[in-house]
Amino acid sequence: MGPPLRRQRQGMIRPETDLGVSVGKMRLKNPIATASGCSGYGLELAEFFDLGLLGAITTKSITLAPREGHPPPRIAETRAGMLNAIGLANVGLEKFLAEKLPALAKYDVPVIVNVAGSTRDEYLAVARALDQAKGVAAVELNVSCPNVKEGGIEFGIDPKTLVGLVEAVRREVSRATLIVKLSPNVTDIAETARAAVDGGAEALSLINTLRGLAIDPWKGRPVLTNVTGGLSGPAVKPVALYMVRRVWEKVAGPKGIPILGLGGIQFIEDVIEFMRAGATAVEVGTASFINPETAPKLVESLREALGRLGCGSPRDLVGALQV
Ligand SMILES: Cc1cc2nc3c(=O)[nH]c(=O)nc-3n(C[C@H](O)[C@H](O)[C@H](O)COP(=O)(O)O)c2cc1C
Repeated sequence: MGPPLRRQRQGMIRPETDLGVSVGKMRLKNPIATASGCSGYGLELAEFFDLGLLGAITTKSITLAPREGHPPPRIAETRAGMLNAIGLANVGLEKFLAEKLPALAKYDVPVIVNVAGSTRDEYLAVARALDQAKGVAAVELNVSCPNVKEGGIEFGIDPKTLVGLVEAVRREVSRATLIVKLSPNVTDIAETARAAVDGGAEALSLINTLRGLAIDPWKGRPVLTNVTGGLSGPAVKPVALYMVRRVWEKVAGPKGIPILGLGGIQFIEDVIEFMRAGATAVEVGTASFINPETAPKLVESLREALGRLGCGSPRDLVGALQV
């Protein structure tokens, strides 16, 4: 793990600091969540720590039918991150509801279920079933997956298509909080953010992966079977921070919509930077592959960091950037 905040400042630590934040109708006990696709259905992390330590966990994308995903290799390490083209491999809605969701109910943690689809009807059917299922705190619409041929990113790039999809999903989702996860593969993310909010998103999460390519120079072939993949990890952090700031200034801040920020978060400094850019909470993705305990360690460090900054709540940091 990265540079820990100095222990000699322990005098400033306030163990009683309330780390709670609100995201739509969800009340999170702290602003640290996991990111979709980087820790399976969440249960995979339970052998390392108590999931109840986290603000929320996010499942991998769930589709109506089970999906095998792309054939391997579907992950490639890059100099400052990783490229993936998993292709939305998952057990499908029915098995998720029957097996994964009940197992998650044992933990005192809100569950954000990420949803993907190839057609609008598929999104609607999955979202409807999840809204009716006990134990789903939020539906996070993945309209930004760069690794599938149909659907996925196509829904998240054109603001008109996006607003239509979100409006339709909104009619199906009333109990759970509706989060829309935005793609960075656009000219101006404020436009898709606005479309998502106009359609009825109660929160926005950003960013998904940036489209990329890895080539084996000696074999003269792409490293991934899918040819292209999505870039994540430290390499994307400055892009993600910029986009969180842009969305916060143009859409989320003025409209009072919370942002879940993600992209390369590994150290407590990253969390503080994302919150200062405008995120109310964050999601930890690729860093969980380096150490599955990254997210709970960030919760611990956040308390210490807030004391050091003299903040009574993480909410004090949201958007706090002197320009
Ligand atoms: C292996 C892998 C699988 C992913 N699967 C999904 C997914 O199923 N749905 C989704 O919305 N995002 C998925 N993502 C994107 C992450 O949730 C996140 O948006 C992105 O990786 C940036 O955050 P990070 O740099 O902290 O990983 C995946 C990322 C990785 C690395």
